[in-house]
Amino acid sequence: MHKNRTTITQFIIEEQRQIKGASGDFTSLLNDIVTACKVISNLVNHGALVGILGSAETDNIQGEVQKKLDVISNDVFIKSNEWAGHLAAMASEEMEEIYPIPVQYPRGKYLLLFDPLDGSSNIDVNVSVGTIFSILRAPENVDKPTEQDFLQPGTEQLCAGYALYGPSTMMVLTTGRGVHGFTLDQNIGEFILSHYNLKIAPDSVEFAINMSNQRFWTPPITRYIDECLAGKEGPRGNDFNMRWIASMVAEVHRILTRGGVFMYPLDSKNQDKGGRLRLMYEANPMSFIIEQAGGMSSTGLARIMEIQPTHLHQRVPVILGSKTEVKRILSYHQEAAR
Ligand code: AHG
Ligand code: MN
Ligand code: MN
Repeated sequence: MHKNRTTITQFIIEEQRQIKGASGDFTSLLNDIVTACKVISNLVNHGALVGILGSAETDNIQGEVQKKLDVISNDVFIKSNEWAGHLAAMASEEMEEIYPIPVQYPRGKYLLLFDPLDGSSNIDVNVSVGTIFSILRAPENVDKPTEQDFLQPGTEQLCAGYALYGPSTMMVLTTGRGVHGFTLDQNIGEFILSHYNLKIAPDSVEFAINMSNQRFWTPPITRYIDECLAGKEGPRGNDFNMRWIASMVAEVHRILTRGGVFMYPLDSKNQDKGGRLRLMYEANPMSFIIEQAGGMSSTGLARIMEIQPTHLHQRVPVILGSKTEVKRILSYHQEAAR
C-alpha cells in the first residue's frame, strides 16, 4: 500500500519542472486550491453535524437561491487563495463582481475563476457535489484587473480542474498535458495520484440530459435523443442507457471513467439567457478537461473553448463527452441549419 504513492503536490512539482521558466508560483497556487477543496470536502462529509445543509435565504447573481454551503464554500475559496501573492483577482459564480486581492496582500500574475459548489441542489439529499476551477494569466502590466481582463476564451486557460465530493473525494485536473485524477486519503489528508492520463472512450451508449425539459428542446436534440430511446429496433441499432445526477462535476467524472455524453442544450426555456451552464467557471474548465482526455465539447454549433466571452456570468449551451457521439449531435445541428 505504501510503495510508490505520488501526492498531488509531488506530481505538480514534477510536471512544472518540465516547463521552462516555471517559477513555482503556479505549484503554490494549486496547493492553495487543493487546501480549499479539502476544507470543503470535510464540511460536505460532516453535513448535518456541522449545520451546513439548507438554504442561506439569499439569492446569487444568477437569481438562484443560495444554499448555506454555496456561501461557505465561496468563502473558503477566497480565504485560502487571497493571501499568498499568486493571484491578481478572483471571480466566482456566487459573486456578481470580480474579487480584487485585498490591499494588505501582494498581487500575483494569475486569475482564478470558480464554481465553489456545483450541483448544490444535491447537498441536502446527500448526493455528489463538486467544485470547479479555471486559471488564467492576468494581462501583463495590469495592476488592478477588471472584469474585462477575465474575458479570455477557454483556449487561454493554463489549468482547469474539479474536486468531486462523492463516495471518495477526488481531484481531477489538467494543465494541458493530459488529465490526471487524485483520490483523497482521508487518514493522511493528501490527494494521491490514482488515475493517470484519463482518456474518454470515443464510442458510448449512455447519455445524460434533463428529460423534463424535452418539450423545450430544439429539433437536433430531439432527434438525437429519440434515436437513442428507439434502442435496438431504431436507427442506432443499440439500447442506450440514461443518467442524470444534476451535478456537472459528477456527470463529467462518469464520462471520464466510462464514456458517454452530457448535454445542457439551448432550449426555448433558457434561450433568453443563452443556456443553463456558465461559460467561464463551468463550461470552459470542463471543456478543457474533456478535450485533454480525447473527448469533444461544443455548443452544438461552435467549440466552447473558442467562444470570446462578453461577460463574466455568461451562459452557454453545452454538449460534451465521447467524440463519436458529440460529432453525431453536431452533424444533426448542421443538417438542421441547412
Ligand atoms: P450549480 O449548483 O453550480 O448552480 O450548478 C448546477 C448545474 C449543473 O451542475 C447541473 O448539471 C445542472 O445545473 C442541473 O440542472 P437542473 O436542475 O436543470 O437539472
Ligand atoms: Mn455549477
Ligand atoms: Mn455552484
